Amino acid sequence: MLSEKLKEETKQNHQILEKALVGNLKAIRNQGEYVELLKLFYGYFGGLEESIAQSIDPNLLPDNAERRKIEYIANDIEALGGDVPAKAEGADLPRIQSHLEALGALYVIEGSTLGGKIISKMMQQQLGLSGDGLSFFSGYGDRTEQMWNTFKDVLNAQAENPEQEAAVIAAANQTFLKFGDWFAKHQQTA
Ligand code: HEM
Repeated sequence: MLSEKLKEETKQNHQILEKALVGNLKAIRNQGEYVELLKLFYGYFGGLEESIAQSIDPNLLPDNAERRKIEYIANDIEALGGDVPAKAEGADLPRIQSHLEALGALYVIEGSTLGGKIISKMMQQQLGLSGDGLSFFSGYGDRTEQMWNTFKDVLNAQAENPEQEAAVIAAANQTFLKFGDWFAKHQQTA
């Protein structure tokens, strides 16, 4: 199934990104540093979301209205007194020119709700945050697994042959890699 292939074939890039992020997360000691992290996610995911919307009908996901959107990060930034930054564009984003490439990028965004739970817990512990500022990383709360399974069902019904599957997988890998680049680029200036 496509979802299983995606998991396997993006595993390495997930691990690289996770490692870079965990180091950064562990070093966060105050809200200002956490806001910088949120801004980094906002810029990249915000640019991605716009790009995805141009190549796919959002109603492909029957529960699209319930899914986490970029506004969640904007709300978290503002709740903690920060300013919402510009969104990534152009070469900072993966190429998304078909609904298959859009699905690959969506896989990365939706899958990030799984690791988000861990991030949210870390920030609760390190900063004593409770509700404010955690809406994005809290994902879908207790429903995260269920929402992930629904997403995978839709995904698995999309690609019809190995070529189409390869297009989704390549876009997902590009989405991980470009996020790593974005992260490295902005970490230095944060
Ligand atoms: C501290 C950072 C992160 C940690 C600790 C982490 C951890 C995890 C864990 C434990 C899972 C597996 C959950 C399960 O199978 O139930 C997972 C899945 C996933 N994560 Fe992360 N993650 C992190 C960051 C990210 C980020 C930033 C993204 C995207 C940009 C991402 C994308 C994904 C995807 C797509 C999956 C689904 C893999 C599958 O197909 O099953 N993760 N992550």
